[in-house]
Amino acid sequence: MKILSVVGARPNFMKVAPIISAIKRHNSSVKDSKILINHKLVHTGQHYDGIMSDAFFSDLNLPKPDMYLGVGSGSHALQSAEIMKKFEEILLIEKPSIVIVVGDVNSTLACSLVASKISYDSCGNRPLIAHVEAGLRSFDRTMPEEINRIVTDHISDFLFVTEESGMKNLKNEGVPEEKIHFVGNTMIDTLLTFKDKSKESKILWDLRLIHKTNTIKPFVLITLHRPSNVDNKNSFSHIFGALERIAHQITVIFPVHPRTQSQIKNLEIESHYDINIKPLTNSSNRLHIDQVREKKINLIKPLGYLDFLSLMSNAKLVMTDSGGIQEETTCLCIPCVTIRKNTERPVTITQGTNTLVGTERDKIINGVLEALHCKNIKSNQPPLWDGKSAERILDKLLKYHV
Ligand code: UD1
Repeated sequence: MKILSVVGARPNFMKVAPIISAIKRHNSSVKDSKILINHKLVHTGQHYDGIMSDAFFSDLNLPKPDMYLGVGSGSHALQSAEIMKKFEEILLIEKPSIVIVVGDVNSTLACSLVASKISYDSCGNRPLIAHVEAGLRSFDRTMPEEINRIVTDHISDFLFVTEESGMKNLKNEGVPEEKIHFVGNTMIDTLLTFKDKSKESKILWDLRLIHKTNTIKPFVLITLHRPSNVDNKNSFSHIFGALERIAHQITVIFPVHPRTQSQIKNLEIESHYDINIKPLTNSSNRLHIDQVREKKINLIKPLGYLDFLSLMSNAKLVMTDSGGIQEETTCLCIPCVTIRKNTERPVTITQGTNTLVGTERDKIINGVLEALHCKNIKSNQPPLWDGKSAERILDKLLKYHV
């Protein structure tokens, strides 16, 4: 049985890592060599900066990719087309029986599309496609990820679902029930595996967020990278206006995604808001601060998995427009304020710690202050977010193959 897994962008790495570990465990436990799995990892290179990619390979003990496509950035069409051309060549050489794609990024869509149309021989044989994190829907087709999710789900053979809303969405869209499997969340498998190790991170000391008495300074952590928030000047200004006000109340730490960093530069955000950052110069395009300052928005460079998990676990509150962080904060029982009008992960609201506040300045401020003052933060762990999702996925794939 030959399986090829695809990663491309930052949120893919933690979703694939536990599947690779499960395959390794399977291979070391089987006696019959006929059921050994030959696994190969393909990295499309959608994310290529060390801090967006390599850092995750070392933090998560991921094996070096067997194949690196090096596609880099570009428009959606260019990036997807480049991935498709190169992935087709790989499939024709490797001829895997299963292709695993995860999440909703352009690499997910491009590789599943190639796998769905390829023909290994004159009989039209092709690999089966397994989509991990299937069924999520924001019902907002202006999000590139929503298009990626819908198309990937409808051409996949195994749909591995993380939360009950996903089961309902797929059934409503007419996906045959036998393709749908509720298995839980592999990103949460990773979080549970690495939670203890993240306590060894030095990031709280590096940012001087620890007092001499060993108590942690209260802080809010924010991440932002959705095009609808950062590419739109009006939304971006509303969000920075809100952050400036929140920073008067509590220290704000903001690891900045490369897309957001370009916009901060383009919109000259530094000159408009009270932020702590060394001025960006042509020679240094990386964000840098000497020391976290109170009452400021402290911009720092993007972080690796363990450092970010350490910050997230110790934050008073997390503000985000990411999908995965809504889930991770629910698992960690840390309040999360989502700067979006919708979420494809409703379980984080109904059972977890998430609140949707939209993108208007005052609504963001009110949502954050309310959540900061709430004394009873409750989070029920969503069903099957128990660290065993990758095992369930492998089990289904093996049963099918046998
Ligand atoms: C992509 C995903 C998004 C995911 C996000 C996580 C799509 C459509 N979007 O968005 O779903 O939530 O990753 O981070 O697939 N860049 C760098 N270095 C890198 C990678 C990107 O500087 O290593 C810069 C480039 O200027 C690039 C921009 O970031 O143009 C955006 O990168 P891209 O992969 O197109 O989309 P993301 O915004 O990262």
